Amino acid sequence: MKKIAVFASGTGSNFQALVDAVKAGTLEAEIRLLVCDQPSASVLQRARKEEIDRLSISPKDFPDKGAFETEIVQQLKLREVEFIVLAGYMRLIGPTLLQEYPGAIVNIHPSLLPAFPGKDAIGQAIDAGVRVSGLTIHYVDAGMDTGPIIAQKEIRIHSDDTKDELQKRIQQQEHVIYPEVLQELFTKGKKSVSL
Ligand code: GAR
Repeated sequence: MKKIAVFASGTGSNFQALVDAVKAGTLEAEIRLLVCDQPSASVLQRARKEEIDRLSISPKDFPDKGAFETEIVQQLKLREVEFIVLAGYMRLIGPTLLQEYPGAIVNIHPSLLPAFPGKDAIGQAIDAGVRVSGLTIHYVDAGMDTGPIIAQKEIRIHSDDTKDELQKRIQQQEHVIYPEVLQELFTKGKKSVSL
């Protein structure tokens, strides 16, 4: 059973999908810790309700990114975390975490990377007028939404789509696909997954 930590900054609908998949037995993992960098994020309430350990931690309380991540690493090691799953964690991962977890940090992003990296990927896709966007699951490196791609899924953009409608359709797919892809990585040791 893979011991994982989920990092999130916001609503936590993907965190919830991972929790639900673990409970259903379709994702063979143990969520040892939720790490959240936004003290008012509702993902923290979700974790409390699910009785999952929470680390609410703000970089503002540390002299630099290295010290912030060193504290996170200590908390991860205390719980023997082997793998980090980013689920709406809106912060770049720095060298301290990357060195401790080489090849063991993944992210989900709501676009077909390398298109529309960074914040508001869905708004960027709508503004660009593209007909197809989607989601990407990838290994994390030092860049912003870069790193080797594990899986991608295309999602059509309708001509009258609002940002909210497109976000809803992308997130519905994220909630199904993220646990499935993680299960493949954990149980079959795959480096990429075809959907
Ligand atoms: C998700 O749609 C995820 O793809 C996106 O944040 C959302 C978090 O939603 N991640 C990024 O944009 C990463 N660059 P959630 O808090 O409801 O899971």
